[in-house]
Amino acid sequence: MPIRDPVLELEARARFLHLPIKNGAPKRDVTLEIGDSPPQNLTIELSDSEPDWWTSVDISSQVGKTIRLTTSRLPAGSTAFSQVFQSNDVPGVVEAYGEAKRGLFHFSPRRGWLNDPNGLVYFQEEYHLFFQHNPYGWGWGNMHWGHAVSRDLVRWTELPPALLPDLQGTMYSGSAVVDVRNDSGLGVAGKPPLLLFYTAAGNPFTQGMASSMDGRIFTKWPGNPVVPHIAGENRDPKVFYHAQSHRWVMVLYVEEGGEHTLQFFNSQDLRSWTLTSKISGFYECPDLVALPLDGESDQMKWVLSAANSDYMVGSFEGERFTPDTPIIKGQSGRGFYAAQTFNGIPESDNRVIQIGWFQTETRGEPFNQAMSFPMELGLITTPSGPRLTWTPVRELGQLEDVAHDVRATTLRPGSVEPWAGFSAEAGRLTLEFLDTDSILSLNLRGLAIIYDGANREIRIGNLNVAVPPSNGRQRLDILVDRIGVEVFAGGGQVFIPYPQVFDHSRKDWKIGVEKGEFQFTSVRLARIKSAWTP
Ligand code: FRU
Repeated sequence: MPIRDPVLELEARARFLHLPIKNGAPKRDVTLEIGDSPPQNLTIELSDSEPDWWTSVDISSQVGKTIRLTTSRLPAGSTAFSQVFQSNDVPGVVEAYGEAKRGLFHFSPRRGWLNDPNGLVYFQEEYHLFFQHNPYGWGWGNMHWGHAVSRDLVRWTELPPALLPDLQGTMYSGSAVVDVRNDSGLGVAGKPPLLLFYTAAGNPFTQGMASSMDGRIFTKWPGNPVVPHIAGENRDPKVFYHAQSHRWVMVLYVEEGGEHTLQFFNSQDLRSWTLTSKISGFYECPDLVALPLDGESDQMKWVLSAANSDYMVGSFEGERFTPDTPIIKGQSGRGFYAAQTFNGIPESDNRVIQIGWFQTETRGEPFNQAMSFPMELGLITTPSGPRLTWTPVRELGQLEDVAHDVRATTLRPGSVEPWAGFSAEAGRLTLEFLDTDSILSLNLRGLAIIYDGANREIRIGNLNVAVPPSNGRQRLDILVDRIGVEVFAGGGQVFIPYPQVFDHSRKDWKIGVEKGEFQFTSVRLARIKSAWTP
């Protein structure tokens, strides 16, 4: 006999409440009521027996209050509710970040699912990385805004989720700004608030705002929505300050009349927004950012992009994006999506830094998916027009242990490699060589990467990517982690993300010449240490 309408009532007594999860178990509709917080309607793969892992809900602010867990039915003998327990620490936390498929220098959630980066912002001397997060499951669902902070873009500390689903819906993607002049009135004199703009994915989808004074506790604005429903699943607000025209700008994805559009809004107070223009041809997760062409600050151009990372270069005076180019192909790999750039980076730094969702599936682990390594964006003039460039942020150097730094060497088929026997789970290979029609064959932990000089292309799996030489040279910069590879080439114009969960037993790296001759001006091999240990 199934158990009908099971209810579990407990008094909150500890920091965490733990629910048993089994990946792939039937999804159950569960309502979780904790003290005076609004009830949460969740879909959870509850474990009826021994769980794969526990989801741990922070209940520390509700001690003494009642916790109520309800669902419609559980199978006979299910221990889903009777296993629920409380404690002051997270089960398995000692082992966390040491799991076999945990990327060593790519951010991943401690538990549960991750997709888009959200609310990338520098605030009170910390980089904030919010992210689409299911704390209750290995797969997508129950969208929360997960939250992590870092002082160096390399070592991240995960904090409790910043935004939880509410009666307006689950929490879809969006962005964050530092309201420096307190235009919203949600800060106090001399202390700017951090504002989050998110999509409440309810019925219908609307855009909401939440504020925080300390980057830890977030309060949804009682006047939400800031932008009411327009059409369909309108979503993913990207907000930033447009200094030249002294106004706040929001770019929003709206599917209207069967067309994928991005719509531009203006605001003075961040609470009320006025539509100023629309553009077609982009799908979800927009971003719009200014970059100096060839590094010249008097030649600012605007780059409009969306989830697949294709982009247009043009101008933006505050109300309307005017393209100079058609849509240009962005990244050249796979499994990279919904990238976003940071707001709030101080002018003294002046970098445009981007993180994207790196779609690395980690089956069998209590967590799933990762972020790309943070990259600095640039914009350069090429014979085909302006093009974006991607470079891993220099902070990666903090984790590098250089094993070989060879200044000049020439290799032919059968040559003994000066770095023979190199092995690493995570590392970085940087090669510079004279343009040649020869063939270079890399084998990094069992993954073959070919550079075919005659065709000036890189081949990985079924990808063939053209890489233009610059000044008669090629430079390949390759990051390898347990969960994937990121290749940078062609002076940064070529970015090839490539998710790949490596076989644990393969740690060997080989760099050999298959045909012809390679004159290297530099070969650098570094191991990358784990970002998760001090
Ligand atoms: C892109 C996306 C967004 C949406 C979010 C939901 O991956 O579909 O458009 O806000 O994911 O998780």
